[in-house]
Parts: sequence; C-alpha cells; structure tokens
Amino acid sequence: MHSLGILLSGRGSNFVAIADSIDAGRIVGARIAVVISNKADAPGIATARERGLHAVVIPSKGRSREQHDREVVDALKQHNVDLICLAGYMRLLSPWFVQQFTRQILNIHPSLLPAFPGLEAQEQAFAYGVKVSGCTVHFVDEELDHGPIIVQRTIPVLDVDDEHTLRARILEQEHIAYTEAINIVLQGNFQIAGRRFKKK
Ligand code: GAR
Repeated sequence: MHSLGILLSGRGSNFVAIADSIDAGRIVGARIAVVISNKADAPGIATARERGLHAVVIPSKGRSREQHDREVVDALKQHNVDLICLAGYMRLLSPWFVQQFTRQILNIHPSLLPAFPGLEAQEQAFAYGVKVSGCTVHFVDEELDHGPIIVQRTIPVLDVDDEHTLRARILEQEHIAYTEAINIVLQGNFQIAGRRFKKK
C-alpha cells in the first residue's frame, strides 16, 4: 500500500479529486496518509478534516524556507509518505526538500508546460491568445513548474471562452489528469531519459 502526502495552500479541489478516486477504486493500492497546508485557513484543510484524514497546518509565514521545509519533510516522513502530490501548493520547494524525495514528488499546473509557468497560468494563456490549452502533471525538480512531464491533457480555447470558463474547463481536466498520472507512477512501469518520461 502506497502512502500519499498531499500539500495544498487553498481550495483543494485537486486533493478532493484524488481522494474521490481512491474511494471509488480509480486509484488502487494507495491511501492518503497526511494532508499538509502552509495556510491555516485553506479550505482544503477543512475538507481533509471532514473526510477524517490526518490534516496538519505548518504555517510558512514568518519562517525561513529552510525551516518551513524541514518541518514539512519531518511530517511527511513521520507518516511514511512515499509519494507527494502538490495540489495547489503555492510555494517553491527548496532543493534540499526535492532531494529528500527523488522522483517522488508530483505537481499539477494549469497550462501546457513549458508555456505559462508560474502564477495565473490560465489568464496568461488566455491573454496570449492561444487556441489550445490544458494542464500538465510533472515530477518536481529544483526549478518552478519544470520537471519531466508525466501527463498532459488539452482543451480547445473557444471563441466564447473568457478567463473564467477557460479556468473551469482546465480544472475538469486537471482532476482527470492527476488520477491518471498517480496510477502510472504507482505502477512503476516507466523510465525517464533526460526529460522524457516513457511508459515501459
Ligand atoms: C489548480 O488549478 C492548480 O493547477 C494550480 O492551482 C490550482 C489549485 O486548485 N497550481 C498551480 O498553479 C501551481 N503552479 P485546487 O486548490 O482547487 O486544487
């Protein structure tokens, strides 16, 4: 049985999608061992508590990145986590953090990377005028929104779209993509050559 650790900072809809997939048997052989937020008022942490999961707040405010990351890593190790899913965790992990969990940290980003990394990716894509957008699940490395890509899902940007409708339709795809990526990674049938992630 794999133990997942979820890190989030806000709403937590990707966390809920993962939890629902586990409950419905769409993700097998995994449980959520702990949900950690750097923000006490993150709605996602309240949801985790309602679902009876271990929910831990480790505030980032007023702490150095090193000190905060150390506390988060300690909590993940205490819960024997072997796969970490960043689900709207709006903090860059320190290189030390990433090195503690080689190829064991996933992130979801609401654009087709390498286009539009960073904040407000959907708005960036909309303002740029792209005709196709989507989301990316990738391994986390030491750079922002950067590691090897596991899954991407695309959607057309429609003439009738605005920032809100585009954001909503990307989010639907995020929820599907994260489950798909977690299953692929947990099955372990993959290889990574350079940046290229391939199923064996
Ligand atoms: C999601 O759209 C996720 O892709 C994005 O934050 C949102 C969190 O929503 N993450 C990033 O932009 C990371 N660079 P959620 O809290 O409902 O899962």
